[in-house]
Amino acid sequence: MPAKLIDGKSLAAMVRAEQKDAIESLAARGVRPGLAAVLVGDDPASRVYVRNKARACNETGVRSEVHEFPEQVSESALLECVARLNADPRVHGILVQLPLPRQLDAARVLAAVSPEKDVDGFHAANLGALLQGRPGFVPGTPAGVMRLLEHAGVPLAGRQAVIVGRSTIVGKPLALLLLQKDATVTICHSKTADLAAVTRQADILVAAVGSAKLIGADMVKAGACVVDVGINRLADGTLAGDVDFAAVKETAGWITPVPGGVGPMTVAMLIVNTVRAAELSIGKPLV
Ligand code: GUN
Repeated sequence: MPAKLIDGKSLAAMVRAEQKDAIESLAARGVRPGLAAVLVGDDPASRVYVRNKARACNETGVRSEVHEFPEQVSESALLECVARLNADPRVHGILVQLPLPRQLDAARVLAAVSPEKDVDGFHAANLGALLQGRPGFVPGTPAGVMRLLEHAGVPLAGRQAVIVGRSTIVGKPLALLLLQKDATVTICHSKTADLAAVTRQADILVAAVGSAKLIGADMVKAGACVVDVGINRLADGTLAGDVDFAAVKETAGWITPVPGGVGPMTVAMLIVNTVRAAELSIGKPLV
């Protein structure tokens, strides 16, 4: 395997350990960071994600609470819950697990979260801050991808970065973060003509579409850094990323595995953001 494996699990453990001092300083001021997760419906993947986030909180010294609602919950009941959490001084971070059921307007629910508690970074105020290069909460997955790239020592300035996937959660914010590091960024999507021709130009290739093994070896430049954001459950119950790992690892220079790559970093960055939100609540500005 010529590609260097970027181990997200061990980096995530390091990032979480780095929060220890900040958590102790907060404790000395009588503050324990608290995260509230809002979970609607029975989507099995969402349940696993929320459980993993709550477990990571508990392991790191962050208080966590989960507010569960049935699939058919009304928007007003959900907005009432968010308003209560906004006003609760023990809650520093709020996350609304996505996707929400169709009858709910996700944009309206996300807009109701106080930007100071928006540890997922999905509120327009935080996404706008990212666009303008001002301090704010950056969504966990793109922030985690940047930490992985930095940790692996992947050069970014002047390099071609190609992101496959244009979501507001991953693709678009990640493009802004890579741009801040002086990469030349291309975002591809379902209407992109000759996707392989574009991805083959990439020095840094990020797959974030949710299509199992979409990225084959023929789509990757030799020596490229390939970051796999996808988590897809196959018919046999196993997990696969958006990258054909077995094939691409022979071509790439660096590669992230699934599981154990980006996923644990998303959770670690959520913890970082929750600690920052707790600090913000006692007057320490975001940087
Ligand atoms: N659904 C998929 N990814 C995420 C995430 O990072 N946060 C939330 N809240 N929902 C998601």
